[in-house]
Amino acid sequence: MARSYDRLVTGNGLSDGDVYGRIGEDGFARLVAAFYAQVPGDDVLGPMYPKDDLPGAELRLREFLVGRFGGPPRYEESRGHPRLRMRHHPFRLDQRARDRWVALMDRALDQAALPADAELVLREFFHQTATFLMNTPR
Ligand code: HEM
Repeated sequence: MARSYDRLVTGNGLSDGDVYGRIGEDGFARLVAAFYAQVPGDDVLGPMYPKDDLPGAELRLREFLVGRFGGPPRYEESRGHPRLRMRHHPFRLDQRARDRWVALMDRALDQAALPADAELVLREFFHQTATFLMNTPR
């Protein structure tokens, strides 16, 4: 599958592969924890995620991001090729779900207080990928 988001280089000069070196395991862990802390109480996203396996979901997103942004490829080793569109097929990703996911992640980025150049790369990636994953009009 073509992954148009593979080689995103943003205006601030930090490329995707440098983000892991910049924020490390800890940066991704804090970011993803801040995201998932909001999920259970969210009226749109809460019902979509597995209530009995939120720590598992948190781990999957964290490992994916680590590998995607220059860290060890643990996600692909355990889960195979990400195939994100296929893996999101069971969920109704309409504009509302997309916008809510992005809003929670934007807040998580604010809370994680990462270095500004890494934060910008991640924010743009999340906005674009969330749009790319939409599978339901309206
Ligand atoms: C557009 C709004 C989105 C919604 C509503 C959504 C929802 C979900 C849900 C309900 C799951 C299943 C949780 C689990 O058990 O792992 C999931 C999995 C996942 N999502 Fe999303 N997602 C969205 C966007 C994104 C984006 C933008 C990314 C990439 C940064 C992403 C990456 C992942 C990954 C890596 C998994 C785990 C896939 C697996 O290995 O099974 N999602 N998502």
